Amino acid sequence: MIKISPSVLASDFSALGAEAARMETCGADYLHLDVMDGRFVPNITFGAPIIKSIRNKTELIFDVHLMIDDPLKYIEDFRKAGADIITFHVESSSNAGETVDKILACGCKAGISVKPATPVEEVFPFLDKLSMVLVMTVEPGFGGQSFMAETMDKIKTLRREIQRRGLSVDIQVDGGINDKTVETAAKAGANVFVAGSAVFGAPDAAKAIADLRSLAEKAFLSV
Ligand code: DX5
Ligand code: ZN
Repeated sequence: MIKISPSVLASDFSALGAEAARMETCGADYLHLDVMDGRFVPNITFGAPIIKSIRNKTELIFDVHLMIDDPLKYIEDFRKAGADIITFHVESSSNAGETVDKILACGCKAGISVKPATPVEEVFPFLDKLSMVLVMTVEPGFGGQSFMAETMDKIKTLRREIQRRGLSVDIQVDGGINDKTVETAAKAGANVFVAGSAVFGAPDAAKAIADLRSLAEKAFLSV
């Protein structure tokens, strides 16, 4: 149930393939790949060719977080690059329903993300088709920011709705997740944890992942 998804945004980009393989050895469940286009967010990272270049370095599930303006246009590219889960933003300019359908038609799992100020109810019309909802716990765009605890109410609301419908949708949190904040998010009902700085910045990444996992397991929904 609990999954840890290290974000390569905080990794050594000059050795991305080795960093991806290292995360598998260190016990990660997913590899979080932050795609930014300089339009949807004020930062640019990498696109499908870079993801493709590391696909054969690890068997980790590729958890692709698209922070781009028109995700619908690029879904097939990311699928071909090896994405397993594709998450896009409900605030992007693409039609959300069409984008979900496209992701599913390509054979990927679909996720929708909401920025901190976006009501989580915006994903409710699509919930039955989703594998995951990503509730951003920082403004998307940069790693190393502070966790916004005010987003926890949205997680509680979302978890209640998922339970009410009898679904098994994962709730992912992304931004400022570390050994001080992971329990708060797990208590609220999150079960997939993205961590950039807290994993890649740690002297022992395997220990950082194991610690996040055990804190989350103990705290998950234990309100
Ligand atoms: C922010 C990205 C995050 C980021 C998290 O826009 O979506 O995935 O890498 O980094 P940390 O864990 O350092 O806050
Ligand atoms: Zn992300």
